[in-house]
Amino acid sequence: MIEGKFVTLGVTGGIAAYKAADLASKLTGRGASVHVIMTRSAGEFVRPLTFEALTGNPVHAGLFDSSRLFRMPHIELATRADIIVVAPATANVLGKLAHGIADDLLTTLVLAATCPVLLCPAMNVNMYANRAVQHNIVRLKEYGFHFVDPEEGRVACGHFGRGRLAETGTIISAVEGLIGKTEDMRGLTVMVTAGGTREPIDPVRYISNRSSGKMGYALAGAASSRGARVILISAPTSLEPPPGVELVPVESARDMHEAVMNHYPGAQVVIKAAAVADYRCERVAGHKIKKEGESLTLELVRNPDILADLGRRKRAGVTLVGFAAETRDLEENARQKLAGKNLDLLVANDVTMPGAGFGSDTNIVKLFFAGGKVESLPVMDKTAVAHRILDAVLEIRRGG
Ligand code: CTP
Repeated sequence: MIEGKFVTLGVTGGIAAYKAADLASKLTGRGASVHVIMTRSAGEFVRPLTFEALTGNPVHAGLFDSSRLFRMPHIELATRADIIVVAPATANVLGKLAHGIADDLLTTLVLAATCPVLLCPAMNVNMYANRAVQHNIVRLKEYGFHFVDPEEGRVACGHFGRGRLAETGTIISAVEGLIGKTEDMRGLTVMVTAGGTREPIDPVRYISNRSSGKMGYALAGAASSRGARVILISAPTSLEPPPGVELVPVESARDMHEAVMNHYPGAQVVIKAAAVADYRCERVAGHKIKKEGESLTLELVRNPDILADLGRRKRAGVTLVGFAAETRDLEENARQKLAGKNLDLLVANDVTMPGAGFGSDTNIVKLFFAGGKVESLPVMDKTAVAHRILDAVLEIRRGG
């Protein structure tokens, strides 16, 4: 899956630097072209020769060193890379990246990168738990950096807890997930709804909600990158539709209902990430409402529940995924919606948690499967959450 890919591997100065040699070797073994950058302190733990021998490429260290392969290593190693992996990533490098500091080759080229950057922290247990480090990690996730969290176990200094570099296999799976050519959704038509519907009050005003559409757009982009035909039925957002998806723009819940029902017969997977208004104005004023009285009453009536309607009409072979944005009693509400709307999977998030929900680039969700299984995901960027949801959809379709 990663054959021919250009991987820039940043190795920073922690005891786990020796494990980066195994990673470099296995990535090379899978056909990737691996270019290693070592920070000065990484050189205290492993010699550049190790990586040169394993990858067949020269190792880069200094910002001002010349290179046999690249005229400007700090730019070319960033722009030519399909992915930059930093393993191990020390507390120091996380701190620098979280604050845009570029004082060596690795941090400079990460700033210049437009490809995905995967950070694999490894450090002492107490350092990893330190609030400054955790704040930096949350900030980096918000900036769109990808993470493979450290594992629990005994770390080199004798402490037990979270801080040990993830296994090489876990890091390679994450790399494949980000840049691998998976086509595991080819042949499927996936309908995704996104954004917050707008319910008109008069020609200039409407009722809406805080949904940004980011989760739905991430799902549409992820499904498309995995080979699916994607129909994205979207209420207004400020987002660019991902390349390759068929966009159906809608405004109100009733527009969305109509568009969803029109496309339902051709879809095998339906993911309802939209925040649909439950009520609309009974009467929409034909002209702008003037401020006349001291108060104004709007009479609201129920909108159709699109997802419940899909659940009632569910055909064999269709996988139905709903979302639940909750501010309390998450578990109870999630289970009720899963059963009540005849869903295969419900993605629930507590929108009051920092790093979750509306407008954020990250999300913290729990997956509730119809079979009873529950999976809690850590704070992740919305693209990674999208891929995990699609993995779950395929698992359900395989009967898992
Ligand atoms: N949904 C829908 N049509 C509606 C309302 C919601 O299709 N009129 C879908 C949403 O797209 C989401 C799921 O139902 O996938 C859950 O939405 P949510 O608003 O959290 O739940 P509701 O069922 O509307 O219940 P409540 O508002 O009482 O929490």
